[in-house]
Amino acid sequence: MLLELKVNGRLVRREVEPRTLLVDLLRDELALTGTKVGCDTSQCGACTVLLDGHAVKSCNMLALQAQGRELLTVEGLSQRVPEPLREEGLHPLQAAFWNEDGLQCGYCTPGMILAACDLLQDNPDPSDDEVRHGIEGNICRCTGYQPIVLAVQKAAGTLREAGIDPLGRKRGEAGR
Ligand code: FES
Ligand code: FES
Repeated sequence: MLLELKVNGRLVRREVEPRTLLVDLLRDELALTGTKVGCDTSQCGACTVLLDGHAVKSCNMLALQAQGRELLTVEGLSQRVPEPLREEGLHPLQAAFWNEDGLQCGYCTPGMILAACDLLQDNPDPSDDEVRHGIEGNICRCTGYQPIVLAVQKAAGTLREAGIDPLGRKRGEAGR
């Protein structure tokens, strides 16, 4: 079947089988391998992407469910914020994970960052508990979570100072 959607701001058209999973479309067809597969059973969150701005587990969706919609993967994230806010080309969330040791092996990191993106759209200044709640669908086997919480809060501070949400929209004009 013909699938049309936007991925990281670009229109994508592909013939897909009805059974194709969204994560397989991203990784195998579009070579967007930043999206990881950690379990295939909707438990680890490594495959998290944003669909119309909301975090979804792409291992748990058919590609055709994204018909006509807009996907954001970790590869497209930094393009959403103004250039001066990018540290060495990284989105503030990516830079904060790097600077606060919010990653070790990095396997969970793209999913964590996109889950945090979802959280920070609604809550620009989350407490420890609120961050932990926001990323509860994402498992990390390496960091012990505290550096991840700090990284999300640090990025939240950077975005607050800039007056934008994690998708680069001015606060108050955001879609959520
Ligand atoms: S690979 Fe999707 S939740 Fe684990
Ligand atoms: S950094 Fe290794 S799983 Fe999270």
